[in-house]
Amino acid sequence: MRVFAPSVKLVSLIPSLAPAMSRTLFVTTALPYANGSFHIGHIMEYIQADIWVRAMRMAGHTVHFVGADDTHGAPIMLKAEAEGITPKQLVERIGAERPQYLKGFQIEFDHWHSTDSAENVELSQDIYRNLRAAGLINTREIEQFYDPVKGMFLADRYIKGECPKCHAKDQYGDSCEVCGAVYAPTDLIDPYSTLTKARPVLKTSEHFFFQLSDPRCIEFLQKWTTGSNAQGNKHLQAEILAKTREWLGNGDEKANLGDWDISRDAPYFGIEIPDAPGKYFYVWLDAPVGYLASLKSYCAKIGVDFETLLDPNGTTEQVHFIGKDIVYFHALFWPATLQFSGRKTPDQINVHGFITVSGEKMSKSRGTGISPLRYLELGMNAEWMRYYIAAKLNARVEDIDFNPDDFIARVNSDLVGKYINIASRAANFISKYFDGQLAYPDDAALLGSNWAQAADRIRADLEAREYGRAIREIMAHADQINQAFDAAQPWLIAKTLASAEPAQRAALQHICSSALAGFKALSVMLAPILPALSKRVATELFGQASNFVWADAGVLPSQINPFKHLMQRVEPTMLDELFEIPAQTAAPKQAGASKQTTSGKQGAAANQPAAEQNPQPTVAQAPGGEPLAPTITIDDFVKIDLRVARIVNCEQVEGSTKLLRLTLDVGEGRLRNVFSGIKSAYTPEQLIGRLTVVVANLAPRKMKFGVSEGMVLAASHFDDKVDSGIYVLDPSSGAQPGMRIH
Ligand code: 2FM
Ligand code: ZN
Repeated sequence: MRVFAPSVKLVSLIPSLAPAMSRTLFVTTALPYANGSFHIGHIMEYIQADIWVRAMRMAGHTVHFVGADDTHGAPIMLKAEAEGITPKQLVERIGAERPQYLKGFQIEFDHWHSTDSAENVELSQDIYRNLRAAGLINTREIEQFYDPVKGMFLADRYIKGECPKCHAKDQYGDSCEVCGAVYAPTDLIDPYSTLTKARPVLKTSEHFFFQLSDPRCIEFLQKWTTGSNAQGNKHLQAEILAKTREWLGNGDEKANLGDWDISRDAPYFGIEIPDAPGKYFYVWLDAPVGYLASLKSYCAKIGVDFETLLDPNGTTEQVHFIGKDIVYFHALFWPATLQFSGRKTPDQINVHGFITVSGEKMSKSRGTGISPLRYLELGMNAEWMRYYIAAKLNARVEDIDFNPDDFIARVNSDLVGKYINIASRAANFISKYFDGQLAYPDDAALLGSNWAQAADRIRADLEAREYGRAIREIMAHADQINQAFDAAQPWLIAKTLASAEPAQRAALQHICSSALAGFKALSVMLAPILPALSKRVATELFGQASNFVWADAGVLPSQINPFKHLMQRVEPTMLDELFEIPAQTAAPKQAGASKQTTSGKQGAAANQPAAEQNPQPTVAQAPGGEPLAPTITIDDFVKIDLRVARIVNCEQVEGSTKLLRLTLDVGEGRLRNVFSGIKSAYTPEQLIGRLTVVVANLAPRKMKFGVSEGMVLAASHFDDKVDSGIYVLDPSSGAQPGMRIH
């Protein structure tokens, strides 16, 4: 008889690594700007941190996992102004969106707060006063471009002009996108403010600086960046340490760290600098303080003393998860800010790379790639994404790629085909022939201890953020369990069970019990990654009162409840939907609008009293079934470059239910490839030769079927349940490809 036990190859001979001591951890993720919805990059970071937090809690550690919205700064102020609302209203609206994403992806922050909070104002101002008392704040006159129409100083991103090197027009104030030259905004030829088109003027103003070039700061940072915490964990990953050496010098080399300008002039949405009327903290001063503000607000809620928890001489470990683009702020400015304001410094800055989609870089500002909300709206399982992202992550600062085919393969072949398959095969024999009772051969103790050791390695891998390695080992175990099960052919024993010898009956029970013990152990190991599924396995299948902890892996289960279906496979068509643009290509959704509240005809709203259904007359009269988008200025409109295009070719897209592939002549001396979700309304023959209108300066978008280089404008009713069709726009005859639409 063959019964599965983890192989010697996979079994560590070292004693259990289970932690002897309970730790207290304060864990954060980077605070997202409150001027936009979460994109898949945010979700990836939160999943990475959430897995880590869950793994640490399963080991018995106390974790305070907090987040917040990063609400201050000029972009938020200007966006709110363009929408005709206050920054606080904008921040509130974005804040209200957050829970659906977090809940949807099973990301469980203990607390979500805001940098626009009383705690943050108080902490930021205190920290500033402490830095000032330490003699590390000074002031200097700075000369900067100023928009005389808008009445505000302009950050580089709000200044454009002609590149001084290659003379390309409309280049930003810091670098040229055409020739790559880097310059000061004052070097631009014919500079203009992107806010008003006015020519900026040079104006001086007093700025406040945190003196990072002070020898005390350099000395501290040189020590801190190379340091470790009490657990022996290095503050920084090797790649990040190497990066900080470029700024801090390496041994004999001189540090290359300038003072940090921490002030901005009014008008600015931010926190006032004490004793400096009209001056505000630069958003990056108060943003990380938001970590503390959120913790402080949470401490008040749970009755824990915040100052004691973060005592600089205490044992709480402070761990930040961030992306590679904000290392400078977290590995230099933040530790120095904390140190010289007399506060506890971070213990670990865990930096991850970006997420690319099918090999293409995603851009925060463009919001390209996978929409997390669309993923959830399509009914795709959050745990597929958690598993896929975990399988790709490691402890290094590497980008990870979301590839649709790889996603389908890993979920369907590995997660469902290997792991879930174990339980669905073995549990039915146990329920049918043994009334749910499990029994093991004589070496059961060894089996239990092997699983305990395997789980211990996975726990250590997860703590070290080697998630991909952990999943590779878990899947290797799943393969072995399945192979042992197949080799034992329990279905043959089951066929003749009525006439079988007791030993054969016992063999069937042992084979299935060992497989289920393995399934339980793997479920424990996967619990941080698949929280909802593992909870169902613990409570529904194995009848446990609570969720798994690491120690459960080595405890052989003694009975099971009847198996219930645990996880669907991914339908490949779901990925098509995920990457396709919605049919209403030309109709941007208003944030927060839902079909129920805007259509007034379909779905749940139809069952509600009229007053609730249509609380505002404007909603009831929404043109085309959709309220008007927020008001924009002419400056916003001119950013969209609409051009006449001729559809020189049009083809079906194999495998897509919605898209047509258009070849467009936009008068540029080359042809463009554009995908459009209009297949339900047109055949290719109806479109070839026609003129239409295209958004010509839309960033190229990588889709499953290729890159789309623009967007064709089409009209449709907002609610796709109202079958009123899709209508591609065409200009009057006489228009020529390339003409701009004003
Ligand atoms: O880069 C960003 O999205 C910033 N809002 C991150 C801030 S992290 C912390 F410092 F608040
Ligand atoms: Zn140039």
